[in-house]
Amino acid sequence: MGVRGDERVLFSRPFRSPMEKANLAAVIDSDHVHGDGVFTKSASERLLQVSGAADLLLTTSGTHALEMAIRLLDVGVGDEVIVPSFTFSSGANSIVATGGVPVFVDIEGDTGNIDPALVEAAITPQTKAISVMYYGGVPVDMDAISDIAVRHGLAVLEDNAHGLGVMTKYGALGTIGSVGIQSFHDTKNVHCGEGGAVLLSDPNLRERAEVMREKGTDRSKYLRGEVDKYSWVEWGSSYLPSELNAAVLDSQLASFDEIQRCRGEIWDRYRASLEEWASDASVTLMTPPDGVHAAHVFFMLMPSEADRDAALEYSRAHGVVTTFHYVPLHSSAAGRKYGRTFGSLDKTDSFANRLLRLPLWPGMSDEQVVKVIDTMKGYVFLPH
Ligand SMILES: Cc1ncc(COP(=O)(O)O)c(C=O)c1O
Repeated sequence: MGVRGDERVLFSRPFRSPMEKANLAAVIDSDHVHGDGVFTKSASERLLQVSGAADLLLTTSGTHALEMAIRLLDVGVGDEVIVPSFTFSSGANSIVATGGVPVFVDIEGDTGNIDPALVEAAITPQTKAISVMYYGGVPVDMDAISDIAVRHGLAVLEDNAHGLGVMTKYGALGTIGSVGIQSFHDTKNVHCGEGGAVLLSDPNLRERAEVMREKGTDRSKYLRGEVDKYSWVEWGSSYLPSELNAAVLDSQLASFDEIQRCRGEIWDRYRASLEEWASDASVTLMTPPDGVHAAHVFFMLMPSEADRDAALEYSRAHGVVTTFHYVPLHSSAAGRKYGRTFGSLDKTDSFANRLLRLPLWPGMSDEQVVKVIDTMKGYVFLPH
């Protein structure tokens, strides 16, 4: 939330669901505040519905879900995982944490997603998995990715932090590969402050995932009465969220349709109102193939990096907080230290340098949406 009296149109504001205060009070009064209580159960059931996943476990963050996913796929020392360079640091950190090597591949110039046409050539005998990230919840051609994975015996990991509940011709995002992840950070469409989930398509992964999430113990089995005491059985950590987080998540998931409707309306409005301006100014507006996306971001690619930087400054000076996004991993200090680059990453650099995102959150007023649109139209492009 902005400072009181802040007249700016903020870039993002966490959704507030009608039930969350009552849910939180119920947890505090219940004496069960640690994880895996009634709200974890309820939120997990709602999430199964919304995501279309066969099975899942809530986690403390999307980052932790990625760490679990990489370990579930047995990525170890020297194993390579193909990832887009245009993604969040956690997509690579999770690989590095097990001694693996992220191999950065270029993206498609329009979607910002990994380019499936480049993936096969990046495969080496060390390759263990392909990790895709759906930027803005826009699907990757998963027929192509799955075909490559099957032919080379590789696992597919889906970082679906942006794309909760997006149904596509390939299946629901996050449920197509071996493992998928969600993030419930408060910048995401559905949030609980900090949180995440591992979506499991392979039933064989469930038992290991439970152990990994419960400090390496079989406590989950014990709680179900399947063993009479629990002990340390494998490597693990503490990846289960408290009931406080689950209570907020549960209330948010109950509002999923409303959240998506509100975000979608603003997204459509931006797209329609800026179309003519964009084409006159050589600006490329976000254009998801088949119109499929999560209404998580609305981005545009400015004609140059200089125009992007100037437009950011201009809009902010006029009370509209626009922003850029990921700094490509291949050019970051840690990316150079731990990763390897495959081929040219020109499209990644160009996309990241020209990308500008508009404010998008449920509850934006009509005046705020109009202000964003008018402000962008008021920007005077640099001479080229
Ligand atoms: C694509 C992507 N994956 C993973 C994450 C990590 O999620 P979290 O912040 O819940 O750890 C983020 C964070 O914003 C993200 O953008």
